Amino acid sequence: MEVVPLRSGSEVAALAADVVEAVVRSAASPVLGLATGSTPLPTYRELVRRHEAGVGPSYDGVRCFNLDEYVGLPAGHPESYRATIARELTDALGIPADRVHGPDPTPEGLPTAGSRYEDALVAAGGVDVQVLGIGTDGHLAFNEPGSSLGSLTRLKTLTDETRHDNARFFGSIDEVPRHVLTQGLATILRARHLLLLATGSAKADALGAAVEGPLTASCPASVLQLHPHVTVLCDPGAAEGLVRREHYRAVYDAKPAWQGL
Ligand code: GLP
Repeated sequence: MEVVPLRSGSEVAALAADVVEAVVRSAASPVLGLATGSTPLPTYRELVRRHEAGVGPSYDGVRCFNLDEYVGLPAGHPESYRATIARELTDALGIPADRVHGPDPTPEGLPTAGSRYEDALVAAGGVDVQVLGIGTDGHLAFNEPGSSLGSLTRLKTLTDETRHDNARFFGSIDEVPRHVLTQGLATILRARHLLLLATGSAKADALGAAVEGPLTASCPASVLQLHPHVTVLCDPGAAEGLVRREHYRAVYDAKPAWQGL
């Protein structure tokens, strides 16, 4: 795992955008894994800014897979993750809606949604780079504490902590769905490169547990320790929870440029 403590959230966004663009430029048929939440938004805005300035890569042929989705929202609800990703990123990059996939939360689709999403990910050849955030309770996507480290895409129930955290996107906590569909932890581990973004001191404890704590289902993001290619980009607030943060920065500063991220 490579941890890169950066000086600000805008440095996180710029470097994350570099990583995503590098994949889009180099992969034959790029597949992006997209997270929602507030953390990736500056990265998405940076990608859109570069695209609109004409300095980004071509997104022709890029396919995207969303990490997770609420269950029980009316179709087209602005806080559904499908609508959020379209609004915040893919529409502006000119990626057509039929190339942006998400698990199917419709009542009729729900019983088979997990296995169909797994099949779609495999059929696409897997995810080249998966953007990730982290919950204050250490959740990854919507894999709450206690999630199996071997889990695949499935229906989950949110904790009160996560519903409280996400209430800011809705009118009140009562409007936050209880159920979600989420890629499992084993699903996420199949992506070729995992790019975890963490900003703000509210994430310090969770990031410390994920990176430096034990591998445990009690901190689902600790599963990243099993993956051969993980990059963690964090700002000073989120890095507060990392005992070895100065070492990580020294490693990054001394890194040969040819290694990339
Ligand atoms: C949400 C999402 C996650 C996200 C996390 C943190 O509930 N399902 O993918 O990483 O919680 O969100 P934020 O970045 O807004 O703190």
